[in-house]
Amino acid sequence: MAMQQVKQHESSSKVLGQLRGKRVLITGTTGFLGKVVLEKLIRTVPDIGGIYLLIRGNKRHPDARGRFLNEIATSSVFDRLRETDPEGFETFIEHRVHCITGEVTEPRFGMTEDACARLASELDAVINSAASVNFREELDKALTINTLCLENIAGLAGLNSRLAVLQVSTCYVNGMNSGQVSESVIKPAGQAIPRSSKGYYEIEELVRLLQDKIADVRARYSGKTLEKKLIDLGIQEANRYGWSDTYTFTKWLGEQLLMKALNGRSLTIVRPSIIESALEEPAPGWIEGVKVADAIILAYAREKVSLFPGKRSGIIDVIPVDLVANAIILSLAEALGEPGRRRIYQCCSGGSNPVSLGQFIDHLMAEAKANYAAYDHLFYRQPSKPFVAVNRALFDLVVSGVRLPLSVTDKVLKLLGHSRDLKVLKNLDTTQSLATIFGFYTAPDYIFCNDELQALSARMGTVDKVLFPVDARQIDWEVYLRKIHLAGLNRYALKERKVFSLRASRSRQKAA
Ligand SMILES: NC(=O)c1ccc[n+]([C@@H]2O[C@H](COP(=O)([O-])OP(=O)(O)OC[C@H]3O[C@@H](n4cnc5c(N)ncnc54)[C@H](OP(=O)(O)O)[C@@H]3O)[C@@H](O)[C@H]2O)c1
Repeated sequence: MAMQQVKQHESSSKVLGQLRGKRVLITGTTGFLGKVVLEKLIRTVPDIGGIYLLIRGNKRHPDARGRFLNEIATSSVFDRLRETDPEGFETFIEHRVHCITGEVTEPRFGMTEDACARLASELDAVINSAASVNFREELDKALTINTLCLENIAGLAGLNSRLAVLQVSTCYVNGMNSGQVSESVIKPAGQAIPRSSKGYYEIEELVRLLQDKIADVRARYSGKTLEKKLIDLGIQEANRYGWSDTYTFTKWLGEQLLMKALNGRSLTIVRPSIIESALEEPAPGWIEGVKVADAIILAYAREKVSLFPGKRSGIIDVIPVDLVANAIILSLAEALGEPGRRRIYQCCSGGSNPVSLGQFIDHLMAEAKANYAAYDHLFYRQPSKPFVAVNRALFDLVVSGVRLPLSVTDKVLKLLGHSRDLKVLKNLDTTQSLATIFGFYTAPDYIFCNDELQALSARMGTVDKVLFPVDARQIDWEVYLRKIHLAGLNRYALKERKVFSLRASRSRQKAA
């Protein structure tokens, strides 16, 4: 949306009115979703008071400003702003983007007491998007970033009672519950956890138990074995309480921690489902990195995977990243306008515009068959096999049936002097490891609903519905998957293929 159009809407948009002059801290802006939220705020809310970015330094850029300028401001997410209003963009970045060097997992983000109190007093809201989205993260790491760091966010809110906190969670905190999932506190599907009369679950005892188990594993192992044991511990504990993986378990724990710490204060939990490329903004198909479903799409495109465990009739819940950013901004405006309440919103497509796993696969395969050459970073040639989803039991049977003869053949070939691994065996390993990580998500037994978010969008009015659309009913799945998402993956997430050519290499040697 051009700046003039935004100006025209200012008087009638509740969101723009609420955010005028407000100062918002965002974590996780080096990541995928954080960047889209930041871009949308800069482009669409020009009168926002200031955007504070909490960024940890890394080896190349030890301070937040340096990392922002090199890793965030240079992102293609800002191409549209650079094209439509380069001066406005530069001025905004210079005067209204404040970069704070800090580590969200440390008390006071590693800042001095004074600096942290000053920061808290300057802010109106915080959006916490930082997380480890690795499904099989080591338990200690996942617990630190997805659960315990929320004590530090709550600590900031403790220094400023006006502060509205918005926590980016995930619909998959639902874990192994099946059926319709509403925008409410989720009951664990596994071993019971005590529940408070305020609605949230009491997790202190459980967190202590997990920390004891982590300490025990740490005392017994080291190096790579320790890493593996901590990954296994995470999955084991997640399964015990009703989650498929460590990521979603620790995100659920995080929700409980915040609900207790901020009871009676402004807390909005926004739960997206699987976030994929943008439907429209900042550009159709914009995406960063290879996300959940894309790892499988990529493996299929490269002909490494053609059989996968999945339920074709299950509803796979994908939501474009721009709709998620809009939901965050919309609900932030609501929290600033009507503080002192706890709200939960789901950002999803399953309840309102369902697409089944079968349809999802068929659309992508149809595009791969008809137009693979248009996506040259993704497909190196037309895939020769279809992608087949079968139930888990059949998948396990087939995989275990072919694995044994293949590994025997591989061993025999190695004895005969072949140094390379058998390609089909390598592909089988890729399939098995993707199935272990993502198999739960391709056999969905639940439908995420978001009546509350739709109602919020309706309450905010027609202008904000246009400026900050959240309704998944606008998605035409065939167009989105075939023409927007595959093109976006090809353009933004994948690099140009480096083809090694003997001739080119010889001519380079000659030139040298
Ligand atoms: N992607 C999805 O499909 C999806 C779906 C549902 C919900 N979500 C939620 O959406 C949010 C954003 O996800 P995303 O896809 O944008 O993730 P992402 O691209 O992996 O970005 C993660 C962000 O978190 C920060 N972070 C990770 N570990 C950290 C640590 N130990 N200390 C400080 N910062 C740390 C990263 O900062 P560094 O660069 O410094 O590491 C990065 O900015 C998360 O809360 C996630 O749970 C994502």
